[in-house]
Amino acid sequence: VPVQRLALRGDLLDFMSTPAWGAEDDAAVRFRPDHWLLIENGRIVGAQPEDPDPSWQREDHAGRMILPGFIDTHVHCPQLDVIASYGSELLDWLNRYTFPAERRYADPAVAQAGAERFLDALLAHGTTSAVVFPTVHKGSAEALFESARARGMRLVAGKVLMDRHAPDGLRDDVAQAERDCIDLISRFHGKDRLAYAVTVRFAPTSTPEQLAMAGALCKADPTLYMQTHVAENRAEVEWVAKLFPHARSYLDVYAREGLLHPRAVLAHGIWLDEADRRVLAETGAQVAFCPSSNLFLGSGLFDWPAARQAGFRVSAASDVGGGTSLSMQRTLADGYKVQALNGQRLSAWVALHAATRGAAEALGLGAEIGSFDVGSVADVCVWDWAQGPVAQVRDALARTPHERVFAWLTLSDERNLRAAYVAGQARVVA
Ligand code: GUN
Ligand code: ZN
Repeated sequence: VPVQRLALRGDLLDFMSTPAWGAEDDAAVRFRPDHWLLIENGRIVGAQPEDPDPSWQREDHAGRMILPGFIDTHVHCPQLDVIASYGSELLDWLNRYTFPAERRYADPAVAQAGAERFLDALLAHGTTSAVVFPTVHKGSAEALFESARARGMRLVAGKVLMDRHAPDGLRDDVAQAERDCIDLISRFHGKDRLAYAVTVRFAPTSTPEQLAMAGALCKADPTLYMQTHVAENRAEVEWVAKLFPHARSYLDVYAREGLLHPRAVLAHGIWLDEADRRVLAETGAQVAFCPSSNLFLGSGLFDWPAARQAGFRVSAASDVGGGTSLSMQRTLADGYKVQALNGQRLSAWVALHAATRGAAEALGLGAEIGSFDVGSVADVCVWDWAQGPVAQVRDALARTPHERVFAWLTLSDERNLRAAYVAGQARVVA
């Protein structure tokens, strides 16, 4: 079989380790201006400043930035249909917009078309891997897995579990849900680049019996992921306290059922206390920071420095449709503003790391995605440094790599994407 050799020229940027909080000059950053990234049979094999020999297929993006594909650790496929829905907080927003949109996914044709549109949209925003909520319908998870497989994408997903406090057409029951999970796990978990996440929507929409079933699935197979929401909104937190009077906190509802482990991804985590933060650190669970959503739904300001202090992992996530863009630049730019409101400065390095290597490592996928380390799968995006006169002038005035990348993060979006490769295959050429 002939070796496929692809070389991409541009300004290579990735991370070798975790950047320090706030540092502009950081040894964790690997910035290699005007290098060739070398890809063989879909994997990174090296990088060099010299032109590669003619055995390499060459794509010259000189003057552009090349990054590992973004990883969005919390996003809802069916909610593209309700992105940018006017005004209300979480619980009202769910009932008014989100649940009706998710109910349409009972139709397999709707779920299939929605999954394909969603994954193509992720790629068009430079996101090559994601941790995704479909809907309660088994077919919506199947459609998502099959569509990701067809695109060669790294995807973590699972059928949503919800057996109460949701409208007709959006509830399952413990026994059927368990059968559906077991079947989906056997067909998709660990197959190609797919992994299964036990997907508890959030504590209020599962009975204690369903939470116990979800916990049992996790205990039976520690390679499974778990995804849910936690402590997003104050009214939600109060509701959980009423529904689970014996739990110490919202997070404790999950902890008691064995749902917190190194492969658990919990969205938001705004209204946590110190004991919760310790539990997250001890269990190895991560929080998906969703700044765009947190601002849009008026949920609150996630305290990232407190997370660092406690020692639990934080990744970045769009949470579309609570979030208003699939763009990870826009998401991270909102993250900067959230931390500014906390009196903190989020560096471009900490931000970008949380959407690349940091997210990959938190998912246990650091050897596969998130960086240009030799051996990684070549999920790679090519970006214009600047689009339009305002960004172009700002970019030209930047004096340090951090200043330049920070301006890029703040001013760019999916319109800057020039190409996206998944396992070395061009999936987007703009
Ligand atoms: N909590 C429970 N479900 C959801 C959802 O779909 N979006 C957000 N942002 N929070 C939730
Ligand atoms: Zn969400």
